[in-house]
Amino acid sequence: MSTRSHILSTGSYLPEKIMTNHDLSKIVDTSDEWIFQRSGIKSRRIAADDQSTSDMAIKAAEAAIERAGIQPSDIDGIIVATTTPDQTFPSVAVRVQAALGVPVGIAFDVQAVCSGFIYALSVADNFIKVGQLKRVLVIGADKMSSLLDWSDRTTCVLFGDGAGAVILEARDGAEDGTGVLSTHLYANGGMRDLLYTDGGVSTTGDSGHIIMHGREIFKYAVKLMADAVNAALDANDLSADQIDWLVPHQANLRIIEATAKKLSMPMERVIVSVEEHGNTSAASIPLAFDGAVRDGKIKEGDLVLFEALGGGLTWGSALLRL
Ligand code: ACO
Repeated sequence: MSTRSHILSTGSYLPEKIMTNHDLSKIVDTSDEWIFQRSGIKSRRIAADDQSTSDMAIKAAEAAIERAGIQPSDIDGIIVATTTPDQTFPSVAVRVQAALGVPVGIAFDVQAVCSGFIYALSVADNFIKVGQLKRVLVIGADKMSSLLDWSDRTTCVLFGDGAGAVILEARDGAEDGTGVLSTHLYANGGMRDLLYTDGGVSTTGDSGHIIMHGREIFKYAVKLMADAVNAALDANDLSADQIDWLVPHQANLRIIEATAKKLSMPMERVIVSVEEHGNTSAASIPLAFDGAVRDGKIKEGDLVLFEALGGGLTWGSALLRL
């Protein structure tokens, strides 16, 4: 009898402050029309100065724990995908562990930028499949506003802050076809100069700001995310029309639409939250997923496909049946 990871619950958190495109047009030379037409973004949430990535991660985790109806002591692993940790070390994951009162277990961060949540989900899934963990809190949380140069209109209009979480649980007997069915992860460091920060703790001594070659990223994002989706479909002997919901990384509506078109997937089956969240990096998929579950769009039994691409470049997909 094989063991599979099942989604027990979801949770998310968004900071209170809403920054609209109109607000941004007072800071940099831009407009609501330009931002919306190019990205599909209308507004994003911005964390307070004294609000850290772990503060958001803890709130998302608390929501997931409450919805699962479990105790923090029922969790034996915490994996946080983030690029914006509170401190260089220790990890956001151990902060979450201490705040929630999760007993000593496995807790660490994963850094794969916008693909981070799929990477973290895959790591958690493998821990569960080999029997090392039973119930894992997987969080994607980022305070991308802390990496922005607020005078650079080519980047500051695209990102936002937030956190999303899922609890994965080990269940024996995969015969009913539910659970995480596959994950596919990729990276190509040769493309790291397309999207990066111009700083780091072992070089400049600070985190630096985001530098992005938007046009190239757009091109690769559509191709590579579609490739990752096709890898998931092939591995499970499925076609795109059998997928109930595509939950893509929420970077840009045009990328999402172009990828869906490449897969011949109608937008009615694609979860989109970028309009109100902007690109929240590792938080984007679990935020969109939690919203769609709570809205009643995604239901038990649905076949759901996650896909993402981020700095590195890193990219990947995860297929699951709820
Ligand atoms: N407001 C007004 N004008 C702007 C802005 C802005 N915020 N930003 C750039 N411009 C100007 C440029 O200066 C340029 O002006 P010029 O022609 O006088 O030189 C013009 O708009 C066109 O710029 P482009 O960069 O060519 O615009 P493009 O149509 O490619 O759109 C965008 C830019 C939205 C960044 C697009 O390339 C994109 O979406 N790329 C993907 C990037 C992305 O989503 N990254 C997120 C991280 S990776 C990921 O998560 C997948």
